[in-house]
Amino acid sequence: MKIIHTIAEMQAASDVFRIEGKRIAFVPTMGFLHQGHLSLMEKGREKADILIASIFVNPAQFGPNEDLDTYPRAMESDLEKCKEVGVDIVFTPTNDQIYPQGYETYVELEKLPHHLCGLSRPVFFKGITTVVTKLFHIVKPHIAIFGEKDFQQLAIIKRMVRDLNMEVEVLGGALVREEDGLAMSSRNAYLTDDQRKEGLRLFQSLCKAKEMVQAGESNPKAICDMAKIHISKAHEAQIDYISICDPDTLNEVDAITGPTLMALAVMMGKTRLIDNMVLIP
Ligand code: PAJ
Repeated sequence: MKIIHTIAEMQAASDVFRIEGKRIAFVPTMGFLHQGHLSLMEKGREKADILIASIFVNPAQFGPNEDLDTYPRAMESDLEKCKEVGVDIVFTPTNDQIYPQGYETYVELEKLPHHLCGLSRPVFFKGITTVVTKLFHIVKPHIAIFGEKDFQQLAIIKRMVRDLNMEVEVLGGALVREEDGLAMSSRNAYLTDDQRKEGLRLFQSLCKAKEMVQAGESNPKAICDMAKIHISKAHEAQIDYISICDPDTLNEVDAITGPTLMALAVMMGKTRLIDNMVLIP
């Protein structure tokens, strides 16, 4: 496995793969890898000749009061994990490479970011679409894989690729959970034992919602109220949003008549947890 730190070297390597007719799969990450990330890499391994992963904690997607400085990092064990899963190249650039002095170009969608996580994190998706565009130009993948854990991110990247005619096939990878159901996340490392336990309330609410919908409940308010009550029982929980929405537009629905996304974000102490599930009547 090769580790590349510079943009020029990464672009040159990808040019060679392309000239050789090899298909490149790409999994962008911010590191502190867990099985959720690795499952995307496994999918990429199956789908292409060359598997490239990036590890870059992207400052542009963090707001001024967010956790950029404390975001967990573990480069050595991340590289071990990448090697085990069969990554060919890890691209891990410095901030100065990606955002040199004088940097001023951003990629922004008009509608999809103004829902769910975008409402409380105004720069988040602009930072993501910008860095992912840059990474696509640097890594030049045929396929890129993003997790359904970040459902809105996946929807936004798919829309951006379509709108800007990027020649990349974007695939989703299933949300990977801990054995008890908590959605895996690098940020789970911040949780105290108590918060970790209470964090399960997100998954429990989604499961209960699924049951309610399967039993014929079609009123989103009844389901949101149930989730609100269940999650609020955790004394450190502050609900950011609970949304029942159309999985394509992310607009909230008045009634659940077909496959509908239930997405939620909760601050557990200082740690932001998100989770989602598609509810099918
Ligand atoms: P990061 O949070 O490191 O996640 C990298 C990829 O792993 C994303 O596509 C995310 O959806 C996926 N992922 C995280 N947890 C997962 C889980 N439990 N199950 C399945 N997939 C999971 O998302 C980012 O980084 C950044 O925004 C990035 C796209 C790299 C741009 O900076």
